[in-house]
Amino acid sequence: MSYTKKDLQKTVKEMLGDRLLVIVSNREPYVHTIREGKIECSRPTGGAVTALDPVMRACGGIWVAYGSGNADKKVVDKKNHIMVPTEDPSYTLRRIWLTKEEEAGYYLGFSNRALWPLCHIAYTRPEFIGSDWDYYVSVNEKFADAVLEEVGKKQAFVWVQDYHLTLLPKMLKERRPDLIVSHFWHIPWPNSEVFRICPKEKEVLEGLLANDILGFHIRYHCENFFDTVEKTLEARIDRERYSIIHQGHETLVRAFPISVDYNTLSERSDTPEVEKAMGELIDEYSLSNLDHLIFGLDRIDYTKGILERIRGIDKFLENNPEYKGKIAFIQMGDLSRIHLQQYKDLNDEINAVVEEINWKYSTEDWEPIIMVRRHLSFTDILAFYRLAKICVVSSLHDGMNIVAKEFISSRVDEDGVLLLSKFTGAARELPDAIYINPYDVDEFADKIKEAIEMPKAERKRRMIALRAIVEDRNIYKWAGTIISEFGKLQNGHKNSHSKQETKHLQ
Ligand code: F6P
Repeated sequence: MSYTKKDLQKTVKEMLGDRLLVIVSNREPYVHTIREGKIECSRPTGGAVTALDPVMRACGGIWVAYGSGNADKKVVDKKNHIMVPTEDPSYTLRRIWLTKEEEAGYYLGFSNRALWPLCHIAYTRPEFIGSDWDYYVSVNEKFADAVLEEVGKKQAFVWVQDYHLTLLPKMLKERRPDLIVSHFWHIPWPNSEVFRICPKEKEVLEGLLANDILGFHIRYHCENFFDTVEKTLEARIDRERYSIIHQGHETLVRAFPISVDYNTLSERSDTPEVEKAMGELIDEYSLSNLDHLIFGLDRIDYTKGILERIRGIDKFLENNPEYKGKIAFIQMGDLSRIHLQQYKDLNDEINAVVEEINWKYSTEDWEPIIMVRRHLSFTDILAFYRLAKICVVSSLHDGMNIVAKEFISSRVDEDGVLLLSKFTGAARELPDAIYINPYDVDEFADKIKEAIEMPKAERKRRMIALRAIVEDRNIYKWAGTIISEFGKLQNGHKNSHSKQETKHLQ
């Protein structure tokens, strides 16, 4: 029996007792926007919020995040609170507001022009701009004020998310040393040689070392973090116990590979609603004459290897002309961080390359590459997962990659092949995927062929094995493991932690 939502609720009750659970992230789990005069609520596509929303729905508590929607202010109460999700209010979303300058300096600037490329090593040069850092500091302070306001006089477990908020743990601990603060790092941590170019390396590390627990997806990122600290700060690093003591404070560093809500995704994929959507998408995108549908779903980001996969399709068709007219590659993806030049350029380049390849191969009634530009509902996404013969995840570097696990969870028919970049955290857990190196276009084309031609029995064997892994290591187990660590700290068991205890999740 896999670990369920109920098991998580039990763990939370045992470990947190009366303590308030506060999640803090830059991105909010629900965004309100005005479209055609009406307020709509939607869910952003990022991995962190997708993974954490089911946890908060199960546990309750407060989620503090930046209110980025143009109707966000209209729907909150005087305390900037709104209960979410609307159809089943389960937890409080506390929105904080940023000015355009703050968003530019803190979010687009230090977070996504500096830390994001620095940590992903996808050959996009990080830019460090002094004023970006100033905004990064002041916005982290803004988050600290909001969190402390929410906590009031209560005891709390504050669970900080991601690279936007590296200074927050220290700011919180300075004002409330009694809080238990944990941080989860959703992206890779690079090796120390890479990280040392960051002019604010020391400040970032000191911020993170105020945490009681610091989580990464995989052990390799923990090791990189240890090396970075060792070369930068005076700290005692205990690689046996996976802990760092800095200025008298201990931070436990652990690998917690994030996951998805397997059961809900499986159940929802197996509904008449999704089957109806499958039929509608076949009509909308003229897919009925195809033998094989290949698809990808990403934010349009240079770390995701979208251009590489389009080039892979091109090479595949060049090497295997007999598949012309029989396959199509569908790429879905929301635009992301479009105010940054690299993202604008990437989007333009993707459009140009798609145009070039479609021009090269298209016939009167067939184009090999379909870019889906409209917003897709969650039902549509599940329908596409179900329609695809192959799901391609070709990230140049990725902390985990949630799409890979969502695809697996949705394949209740035990069919479909996952083509997965070796450079994702997910690759460490999913050995029955077909691994690819997105930088190697010839190999990429060969792997597409291998996936297309894989016998049904082999596809089934692999998918059953993949599903068993994701079912077992689901999002509730992930959260339950971290919250158990919180609980041990709370109960003063910090020193009793052994490497053994986390081994099953590595
Ligand atoms: O996988 C999680 C994540 O990559 C975050 O690290 C990132 O913040 C998010 O998804 C998506 O980016 P954004 O919040 O900028 O839309």
